[in-house]
Amino acid sequence: MCGIVGYIGCNQAAPILLEGLTKLEYRGYDSAGLAVCDGTRIHVSKCKGRLKVLSELTKGGETLKGTLGIGHTRWATHGAPSDTNSHPHYNTNETIAVVHNGIIENYNKIKSRLCEKGYRFQSETDTEVIVQLLDRYYTGDPLAAISKIMTKLEGSYALGIIFKDYPDELYAVRRDNPLIVGVSEEGNFIASDVPAILKYTRKVFYVENGEIVRLTREGTQFFNSDLEHLAKEASIVEWDMAAAEKGGYEHFMLKEIYEQPKAVKDTLHPRIKDGKIVIDELNMNEDDIRKLEKIFIVACGSAYHAGMTGKYVIEDLARIPVEVDLASEFRYRNPIYPKNTLTIIISQSGETADSLAALREAKKNNCRVLGIVNVVGSSIAREADNVMYTWAGPEIAVATTKAYSTQLTAMYLLALHFAWIRQTLDRDKYDALLKELLSIPGRIEDIIKKNTTEIQYIASKFVAVRDCFFIGRGNDYSAALEGSLKLKEISYIHSEAYPAGELKHGPIALIEEGTLVIGLLTQEKLNKKTASNIVEVKSRGAFILSITCEGDEEADRISDLVIKIPAVDRHFTISLSVIILQLIAYYIAACKGIDLDKPRNLAKSVTVE
Ligand code: AGP
Repeated sequence: MCGIVGYIGCNQAAPILLEGLTKLEYRGYDSAGLAVCDGTRIHVSKCKGRLKVLSELTKGGETLKGTLGIGHTRWATHGAPSDTNSHPHYNTNETIAVVHNGIIENYNKIKSRLCEKGYRFQSETDTEVIVQLLDRYYTGDPLAAISKIMTKLEGSYALGIIFKDYPDELYAVRRDNPLIVGVSEEGNFIASDVPAILKYTRKVFYVENGEIVRLTREGTQFFNSDLEHLAKEASIVEWDMAAAEKGGYEHFMLKEIYEQPKAVKDTLHPRIKDGKIVIDELNMNEDDIRKLEKIFIVACGSAYHAGMTGKYVIEDLARIPVEVDLASEFRYRNPIYPKNTLTIIISQSGETADSLAALREAKKNNCRVLGIVNVVGSSIAREADNVMYTWAGPEIAVATTKAYSTQLTAMYLLALHFAWIRQTLDRDKYDALLKELLSIPGRIEDIIKKNTTEIQYIASKFVAVRDCFFIGRGNDYSAALEGSLKLKEISYIHSEAYPAGELKHGPIALIEEGTLVIGLLTQEKLNKKTASNIVEVKSRGAFILSITCEGDEEADRISDLVIKIPAVDRHFTISLSVIILQLIAYYIAACKGIDLDKPRNLAKSVTVE
C-alpha cells in the first residue's frame, strides 16, 4: 500500500504535495518522491527514507518550481527501498512521470517485451513498467495512451500521471486501489485517501474502477476506458482530520481488522496461476522440496502463533516434520539440523532482534533460511536466503491483525505447495483445498459484516473481567494462543491459552464461579473432547463463550454464549475464528478507553533482545 497525491492549480505544487504526503505516511514510508512540471520540463526529486528526508532534499519543496505535480510515499512490494526504486518513475526522455499504488502482476512479462524493443529500466519496481509502456503507446494523446495501457496491465493500480507536453493537465486512473479527486478554489487534486487534501477541500469525487480522470486548473473530466465522458456526482467529506487518517475508523487496529480480506487476497492471488500455487520466490526446485527432511519455524509473538498453524497444516498435508520454536529459545538450544532442513523465520517487521538472531544461528549451521516478512527490504528479508513477502501493507497498530492473517495465508500456500510436489495430496483434494483457500477473503468479510455488532455487545459484558482462559485442541489451540495474546496486549486483562486437554493437569484449579473461558470448537474430529473439557470447567462455575462452525448444535447445549463462523475446511478455520477473537479483544479494550493502537509497555517492532 502506498500513498499518491497530485495537484494542479495556481500555487507552487511541491509544498502542497509534500504536505499532502505527510497525511498519507500511514500508507507507507520507506521512500518518497515528487515530480513537478514547470511548463517546459518535468523535474523529479526522490529518495529512500521517511518524508522528512525528501523535504530536506527539496528544501520544503522550494527547489521544485511549477504548479503541476505528483507525489508518492512508498510501501515497497517489488524492489527494496532505495532512491532508484522510489517513485515517481519516468520514461527514458523524462517526458512522462508516474506515481503508483498497487501491484502489477504481469510486470515481468511486459518488462521483457519492452526490453526486446530496446527499453532500458533503472529500477526493480513493477511501476517503471507502467511509465515505459505509456512511452511506447504515447503518440501525442495522453488519454489514448492511458486507455491502451489499461488493456495491457494485470493487477491493481491507482496512478497519477503528468506529461511534459501537457503542462496544464493532470491525469489519473484506477483499478482496485483507492483514488479520489478533490476540487477547490486553490486548485484540483488527486489522492489515495481523503486526509491528503482535507486541508483544501471537502468536495471530492470517488474514482471507480476503469475510470480515467483529466484535471485542469479549471475543472475535472471523467472518462471510461473507451474514452466516453462520464458524469459524476461530488461527495462532501464529513470526517475530521484525525478520523480521516484512520479512514474514518476510531483506531488503526479496527481499520486493519477490516483490511484483512484485501491483505489475504493480495498475498494469495499473485501466487496462484492457472489453478496451481506458484511460489517462485521460494527458489526451491521440486527435488529440493521432495528431499526436505525437517522444517524449523521460528518467530516471536503472533508470528510464532502463525508458525504453530504452519506446523499443523504442513505436517498434516505435506507430511514433513515441523518444529516450531520461539526465537528467543531457538537461538540458545543448539538445535540439530538434519541435512535437508529448511528454517522459516516469520516476522511482520523483519527487524525483531530474537528472530534475526535465530536466522543468523540457522545460517551459521548452513541451513537454508526462508523469511516470511511484511516489510520489504527489512533485515530479515535481506539476510534470509529467500523471502516470501506477505502483502498486508503497512501495519500501524502495535497489535498485529492483518499481517498475522497473511502469515497464516503464507503457511497454507507452503503446505499445499509442498504437499502437491511431494504428492501427499491427490489432484481432487488439492483443488478442493485451493478452492476453500480462495474463499477465505470473502468469508472474513462476511464475518466482519455479520458478527461485529453482536461482538460489540458481548464485549461490553466482559469489560470488568479479570481473568480469561482460551482453550482449544489442534489448530484451535493456535487460535487460542493468538486470541489470548490479543486480549492481553490491548485490554490489559490477564488471560492464558491452554490446550483443552491440559486443563485437568493443574490449570483447572484456577476455575471458579464466573471465570470466563473462551472455547474454540472448529476442529470437528476433536470437538467432542474439547466439549468435555468445556463441561468440566462449566461445572466448576466458568462462564463459557464458544466459537464454533455453523451447524454445530452441541456448542449451543454446553455454552452460555456461542458465536458461529462459516464452515470451511478445518485447516483454514483459524483464519475465521481469529477475526472473532480480534474483535472481542478490540471492543473490550475500546470499552475500557485504552489507547489500543499504542498499548503500554509495547513497541511495534522489538528490535532489542
Ligand atoms: C502481536 O500483536 C505483537 N505485536 C507481537 O507479539 C509481535 O507479533 C511480535 O513482536 C513479532 O513481531 P514481528 O512479527 O515483527 O517479528
